Amino acid sequence: MQKPIILSGIQPTAKLTLGNYLGAVKNWVKLQNEYLCYYMAVDQHAITVKQDPVQLRQNTLFAVATYLASGVDPKTSHIFVQSHVPQHTQLAWILNCFGYMGELNRMTQFKDKSQSSGKNIRVGLFTYPLLMAADILLYDTDLVPVGDDQKQHVELTRDIAQRLCGLFGDDTVKEPKPYITGPGARVMDLLSPDRKMSKSAENEKGTIFLADTSKQVEKKFKQAVTDSGTEVSYSEDKLGVRNLIDIQSAITGRSPDEIVSSYEGKMYGHLKVETAAIVNEELAPIRAETERYLNDPGELENILKQGAEKAREHASKTIERIYRKVGFHI
Ligand code: TYM
Repeated sequence: MQKPIILSGIQPTAKLTLGNYLGAVKNWVKLQNEYLCYYMAVDQHAITVKQDPVQLRQNTLFAVATYLASGVDPKTSHIFVQSHVPQHTQLAWILNCFGYMGELNRMTQFKDKSQSSGKNIRVGLFTYPLLMAADILLYDTDLVPVGDDQKQHVELTRDIAQRLCGLFGDDTVKEPKPYITGPGARVMDLLSPDRKMSKSAENEKGTIFLADTSKQVEKKFKQAVTDSGTEVSYSEDKLGVRNLIDIQSAITGRSPDEIVSSYEGKMYGHLKVETAAIVNEELAPIRAETERYLNDPGELENILKQGAEKAREHASKTIERIYRKVGFHI
């Protein structure tokens, strides 16, 4: 019997962050045996904002190397680069003709990102959720493991799927479900814990990059904003402390309550130092493996070639089906 299908991706707009790892990649690895998985680096999404072409190419390989180093198994999961599979943009155009301006206008990520784009907001930034919907619908995806910030985009994909099935029949596309779970679903910025940790934060000191050295990680956690109190507790009005507990919990699997009780009589300083140590213990082997993959481009290229072939195999069937449904002559 065919396993249910997962698809997910990360934008290679910069080196990946602890948020990307805990919100997405760690779950990808956890789910990969029960599902047939398609994991990609979404370079076409990346150019919705300004990119340096050389950096974009490097970051794409870095993302893929990170997936592998984190434990995604290329023998069973298909790892590929979005632009290697032309069906993504083919379907995106069709979805541009079935998505509504009103629903795209409601996307909070567009509102946030367009604010920092200045006067010339790229059209692709506005229609980007439809490219993401195309990514998902192309593979008859059952489950989309993402962080909390992508929930709205997956919900939009579900609306579009229902619309297409309503117009052209239930077998047109499959309606996917989001998989957003656990304390890693929303990792916050270490300096502004009311904002999510992001690759493009103004101040990089609030973001843990997977490529950071152990020393940099220690320093960033030491400088993490907590509050003026001292007692370690898990509550809505202590966002900074809560974030550190969530990070520990996402890595160790211990509950926030357990973590809090282990800090009885200790200070914030202990929490910061120990969170850094837990993060470093998790990331150090991934960092080393990522380097190893990047030093062996032949192996990476091979994996990407095979991944793209498998992806095209599935995507071309879906696009043919949808072309027929919408009335294209094929
Ligand atoms: P992107 O590149 O912004 O983020 C990649 C993944 O990391 C998650 N994430 C976080 N999780 C927890 N805490 C954070 N601070 C944090 N920051 C990021 C994101 O939720 C995401 O899962 N549009 C998507 C990429 C995409 C995609 C897709 C995802 C394109 N096509 C199809 C799933 C399916 C994006 O920009 O993610």
